[in-house]
Amino acid sequence: MSEIDLSAIHSLAEFEPLARLVMDPGAFDYVAGGSWDEVSLAENEGAWRRRRLRPRVLVDVSRIDPGTTMLGQATAMPLAIAPMAAHGLAHPDAEVATARAAAAAGVPFILSTMSTCSMEEVAHASPDGVRWFQLYSQAEPARTRELVQRAEAAGYGAIVLTVDLPLLGYRERDRRSGFELTGPHGNFAAPGSSATHGGGIHADGFAQLKQQLVTGLSWDDLATIRSWSSLPLVLKGIMTAEDAQLAAEHGVDAIVASNHGARQLDRVQAPTDVLESIVAAVDGRVEVWVDGGVRRGHDIAIARALGARGVLLGRPILWALAAGGGAGIERALAIVREEFEIAMALLGTPTPDDIGPSHVVLEALRSER
Ligand code: FNR
Ligand code: LAC
Repeated sequence: MSEIDLSAIHSLAEFEPLARLVMDPGAFDYVAGGSWDEVSLAENEGAWRRRRLRPRVLVDVSRIDPGTTMLGQATAMPLAIAPMAAHGLAHPDAEVATARAAAAAGVPFILSTMSTCSMEEVAHASPDGVRWFQLYSQAEPARTRELVQRAEAAGYGAIVLTVDLPLLGYRERDRRSGFELTGPHGNFAAPGSSATHGGGIHADGFAQLKQQLVTGLSWDDLATIRSWSSLPLVLKGIMTAEDAQLAAEHGVDAIVASNHGARQLDRVQAPTDVLESIVAAVDGRVEVWVDGGVRRGHDIAIARALGARGVLLGRPILWALAAGGGAGIERALAIVREEFEIAMALLGTPTPDDIGPSHVVLEALRSER
């Protein structure tokens, strides 16, 4: 697969069939799949496609600048890489390659608690990139605290606490294939080892996720998690205006409108469809990001028009990593960036801040669903 001509790829969609050729079928399905009937999985992409843009003309678009900030950190476009477990399933260079590609493209990278490489290894490989750490709370609070403090010490700029996984969703593809997230899980020391990192355990990651006391996590725990570091706190997995309101009251720094890529509760709405109500509920108090089904640069324009500060990009990153390693991800990010820039020019909005509610309408065409 190293022979692949990345310059011949012109859309994110093209990476998926290439990834399928090189990945173990069970691992491919783990990444591709959603929960139960995958109703929300289809809906996630469909929700972007149902929006229609309203371009303004005779605006000077001779200079397009897609750059902005997310959480006060500069990003080359309003996009960060979503936290995803086990990049080693896609490529042996795993998160080291992803973090380097993100840094080269100037976008933030969010490392999963369940990463193949340890957070220190990734930090060492990509010292200059903007990196944030996604946190799954652990059965023992001391272990959770240790993860947070290691992330701060390793230069991660935020804690992204995922709140939509009190337990794992019902994933039929994985049950049929018998897929297990066997690791290595770089953030966890090998049994009997006193090292905090290096190598990592080879254990069933699903079983490990099950042991995590995320089930017992509640709003009251946020202050404790905050107290463990000076890092900003982001809540990932907010799907209602009610919870967005609570998040704002609890003083978090950003929230991600997300249904976990439709991998947790099926038959929930697409995050795109709840975005406006969430943005209204927080009323400018916290940044709102959105993920799920972003596949084109103009999805970013739609997200901005609906009030999001930025988007997270998930599965296409792992497809690109499988197909072409770090260079594959750089190509994927270059495609999205060019698509976004062209969309901005044709929309008459030279910067992300120029994109507003008047640039999008909902066009519920049944044939597009
Ligand atoms: C995820 N996601 C995820 N989220 C999280 O907070 N921690 C994690 O470890 C993971 N792991 C994970 C693995 C895989 C293989 C996938 C596909 C997804 C969810 C992820 O952050 C994001 O919410 C969705 O993937 C976004 O949707 P798209 O872009 O994949 O449609
Ligand atoms: C997943 C978990 C690990 O979605 O977040 O597979």
